Amino acid sequence: MSRYDVQGRHELEDRIRETVRPERGEIPMFVYSDPGVYELEIERIFGRTWQFVGHLSEIPNPGSFVTRTMGEESVIVGRGDDTIVRVFLNACRHRGMRLACEDFGEVNMWRCPYHGFTYGSKGDFLGTLMGAPFERVAYPEGLDRDALHLVEARTEIYKGLIFATWAKDTPPLEDFLGDARWYLDLIVGRAEMEVVGFPERWVLPSNWRLPSENFASDAYHTATAHSFLTRLDLVKGVDFGRDGYHVDPGGGHGLGVGVHFDEESYFPSELADEYRDNLDAGQFETLSRLKNMHGNIFPNFTFLIPNFIEVEGRRVSGAMLRIWQPAGPNKTQVWSWHLVERNAPEWWKKLGRRMYTQTFSSSGMFDQDDTENFEMQTRSSDAALYRREEFVLHYAMGLDAPPLEPGEFPGPGDVYDGKFSESAARTYYRVWRDQLLEDAR
Ligand code: FES
Ligand code: FE
Repeated sequence: MSRYDVQGRHELEDRIRETVRPERGEIPMFVYSDPGVYELEIERIFGRTWQFVGHLSEIPNPGSFVTRTMGEESVIVGRGDDTIVRVFLNACRHRGMRLACEDFGEVNMWRCPYHGFTYGSKGDFLGTLMGAPFERVAYPEGLDRDALHLVEARTEIYKGLIFATWAKDTPPLEDFLGDARWYLDLIVGRAEMEVVGFPERWVLPSNWRLPSENFASDAYHTATAHSFLTRLDLVKGVDFGRDGYHVDPGGGHGLGVGVHFDEESYFPSELADEYRDNLDAGQFETLSRLKNMHGNIFPNFTFLIPNFIEVEGRRVSGAMLRIWQPAGPNKTQVWSWHLVERNAPEWWKKLGRRMYTQTFSSSGMFDQDDTENFEMQTRSSDAALYRREEFVLHYAMGLDAPPLEPGEFPGPGDVYDGKFSESAARTYYRVWRDQLLEDAR
């Protein structure tokens, strides 16, 4: 039952409609932590949108599975065979017990811990009710296998990224990703990628949207929030956060591409042929100049090529994926994956792991800085004063700046010269607001 009565919900919808004005660079602070807003998001955004649930390399064999979360629901991501990947609500059809209680595994069958209903985990039987204990005695009339199939989400895969949605009618995944695909290819499509180990998890005392919009659109904070980089002489001045491009590919997705001006690519030469085979000429050229890339697929799926740093005298970076899983208006469960090219030389794999641990991970230097900001923003917004009165935040950086002309940058979308812009954050909030209000009266 909603915490808000119908009247309260209509008032909230009106407040969102009147005060969320990204077109003017205005976002009210209450949306960062309001419980009613959170409730609408779970229902109208996470109940419908495509959500990242895992990478194919995490479930390599028939019977492999991982358990993940879509919105607030636990789901099983299972592999039937080479071509069959399905996502199910992690709930037994008998009494709703959680079917898979492990984070991952490889099984011949899922057996419910409560009364023992069993479900297929392989081939075409993935998700099918296979049997129940003492079935002929307990159910002499038989069990309707079709009616008792696990509840299945719609599933599609892009370059190894598994996405699922509860909606039957949303556009296909490739349309949803749109122009962001060109940039996603640089991180997950440049070579055959595999997840290293298991995703890390930790909890942030923050609203889930703050880190999502930060990765979509905020290169501006790096010189201040991560000033240790310049103080320790790891990078040179403000340029490390500004040089490159801000990209608003539409759909609420957003990203920044950081470039360097050295002649040689920072990526390992041993992988150049594989990169060239997998990328188009513009993508390959962009990868060759790349020194970092941050982005977010709406609403909460972040991707990152962290700034190259030196480890043991070699310049190294990697590939990182994140989910900012909503766990309440003021709480976020973080999932963090580190990926590497399967065919990479050993030094790149080993030092890349070190880079991941030191920069963006539960022990990462950058995460310490960012978390403090996200937590304090959430706490500021939760103050009684801002719940009552409008406190409008400034999202107007680059409001009047025109994007580059077609041909000035090889990638699609609205591309801005220099990473200091909030264009993608404005689009993020426009899409967010429109989806929240879609069913409003
Ligand atoms: Fe699963 Fe009863 S709840 S068998
Ligand atoms: Fe940061």
